[in-house]
Amino acid sequence: MEKMWIHEKLKNSIGIKRYEHSVNVMNVSIDLANHYGYSTKKAAMAGLLHDCGKLQDKKNILKLTQDFGIILDNVTKNNKELIHALLGKELAKREYNVDDEEILDAIRFHTTGRENMNLIEKIVYIADVIEPNRDFPGIEKIRNMAYKDIDRSVLYSMNNTIKFLIDKGWLVHLDTIKGRNQLLNLKTWSEA
Ligand SMILES: [Fe+2]
Ligand SMILES: [Fe+2]
Repeated sequence: MEKMWIHEKLKNSIGIKRYEHSVNVMNVSIDLANHYGYSTKKAAMAGLLHDCGKLQDKKNILKLTQDFGIILDNVTKNNKELIHALLGKELAKREYNVDDEEILDAIRFHTTGRENMNLIEKIVYIADVIEPNRDFPGIEKIRNMAYKDIDRSVLYSMNNTIKFLIDKGWLVHLDTIKGRNQLLNLKTWSEA
């Protein structure tokens, strides 16, 4: 396989379980890219590397975040889960030699989403939610939706995330709120 070193490096830095998740996200991303007429090569790379910032060595996460000069906003500071997406973009660029801005943004925004997401951002966002190892009530509904109307599936998934965060009493990232509002304004969702 081409780019075998990327697979080896990724496996070593995020661990076998997250690596397997990443390969699943890569495969679903390729499927969705095929379905929606996007570059499968770019979707594969973004899917594979989306969690490359989830380093096994947790101390290294904060150190590298500082070293790379990544500025954390107040929500990200309070929810460490969000950091891996920002760090992932920098690692993809610096250590995996990715220079394609669309791939880098798909990694950067795969956790929160954002306003005006482009196709590859939506593909990776939703592939992360529906990959075959994911299991939660209603997942089949989102899986089908992802292939029928990707905007609707992203909106649905953002709603789930926001509800989850509110139930937990946690902060909601503004990018998710803005992304949701924009998708909600995009068309009439009466059929939803
Ligand atoms: Fe992630
Ligand atoms: Fe993930």
